Amino acid sequence: MKSSHRLLALAAAFATLTAFGADAATNWTDQCAKCHGADGKGETKMGKKLGILDLTDAKVQASFTDEAAFKAVKEGIKDKNDKVTMKPIEGLTDDEIKALIPVVRALKK
Ligand code: HEC
Repeated sequence: MKSSHRLLALAAAFATLTAFGADAATNWTDQCAKCHGADGKGETKMGKKLGILDLTDAKVQASFTDEAAFKAVKEGIKDKNDKVTMKPIEGLTDDEIKALIPVVRALKK
């Protein structure tokens, strides 16, 4: 059964993420992965379209502060032409956003 490998890989990934609490991991999967990819590499359709940076890259991780990450989720991001690329993520409390920061940081390889 080939699919059992996939399941095992998924279970392993989930076990890593749940170290931060199931809610934060679920929020990443539900609210962020469609653009950033579950692994943070941004290799999604949206990610390619929007030119999303690779969050597994240490240089990318170093390029923003925790505060900037918080602000990105809460207020969104605009590019240099003032075009919104990442919309503010709705429906997350400040605490839920804060809980996502370690999830984002842990994407670093
Ligand atoms: C609509 C697509 C989209 C969604 C959904 C999305 N992002 Fe983003 N995100 C972007 C784009 C575009 C950028 C800007 C390019 C980059 O830095 O990769 C970005 C940048 C970031 C950055 C870097 C901030 C900086 O100052 O450079 C962080 C951290 C981030 N996103 C976290 C998240 C988190 C956490 C979620 C879920 C709560 C999320 N994103 C959901 C598109 C998205």
